[in-house]
Amino acid sequence: MTLVSKMTAIMSYALITGASSGIGEAFARNFAAKKKPLLLIGRNEGKLRSLAEELHNKEGIDVRILAIDLARSKELPFLPSKLQQMGITVDVLINNAGFGKYGKDMDISYEDDLNMVNLNCRALLALTKLFLPDMLRAKKGAIINIASILGFFPLPKMATYSATKSFVVSYTEALAKEYKDSGVKFLCSCPGFVDTPFHERAGSKRFDSINYETTERIVEETLAALKSNKTMAIVGKQKFWDKIALSILPRWLFIELMS
Ligand SMILES: NC(=O)c1ccc[n+]([C@@H]2O[C@H](COP(=O)([O-])OP(=O)(O)OC[C@H]3O[C@@H](n4cnc5c(N)ncnc54)[C@H](OP(=O)(O)O)[C@@H]3O)[C@@H](O)[C@H]2O)c1
Repeated sequence: MTLVSKMTAIMSYALITGASSGIGEAFARNFAAKKKPLLLIGRNEGKLRSLAEELHNKEGIDVRILAIDLARSKELPFLPSKLQQMGITVDVLINNAGFGKYGKDMDISYEDDLNMVNLNCRALLALTKLFLPDMLRAKKGAIINIASILGFFPLPKMATYSATKSFVVSYTEALAKEYKDSGVKFLCSCPGFVDTPFHERAGSKRFDSINYETTERIVEETLAALKSNKTMAIVGKQKFWDKIALSILPRWLFIELMS
């Protein structure tokens, strides 16, 4: 676990997982522009470091980085106490890190599938359990979990991925209800197709017919939903049609059309 510090401070930070790329990087830029101190997590230490330096130089905020493999690390339970020693509290947790693999189940290795479950579900669950208690004690804070439109139905050739996102949808909505009056906000954000390296990493081709959303717009819509105290938000330019399709099409037809 490499934790890089830029200055000593006792402040509340936004912890963003998967901040080295795509939607997570856009969250980091958005929060930095609002002068929010940041803790950025990902595996690619070089990318995290250069983003942290850029945001620190541009916005004058404290940005720490933590290079860690969230799918495999056994050190997560020690993170809150380590941060406490450094005078860091976390009042915004964005569980964004995630990946998918495209293909029939037998063409995806067990290791890839297990890592997907470990990152998309286990790490999200672990970080929530680790940071929620302090937020509840303080009676304030926010947890934003990035799911996907695929959290609402099983997508053939992305079986494990869509199952992991169903977990995120279900878990977040239940917690939002359990802690409704706690002062801590919960939001499950469900993007459709977004223009990030996600698809290439998943081994999926780029679809010319799809209008991929920008990461900036996903972040803006997610934060607007949080501000209006929503607990579930379908975000992105397709959201109108996504919502209509999800509400009026029978499940079997929806799966057929998306396959
Ligand atoms: N793009 C889309 O169309 C889309 C649609 C719906 C939902 N989403 C969701 O949005 C979230 C962000 O994805 P994205 O589109 O921004 O993809 P991305 O650009 O590939 O970003 C994924 C991030 O997760 C990090 N990550 C991956 N494996 C990790 C691990 N084992 N430990 C720690 N960090 C890890 C990556 O950083 P390192 O490589 O440095 O580890 C990267 O910063 C994901 O949860 C994804 O499922 C994406």
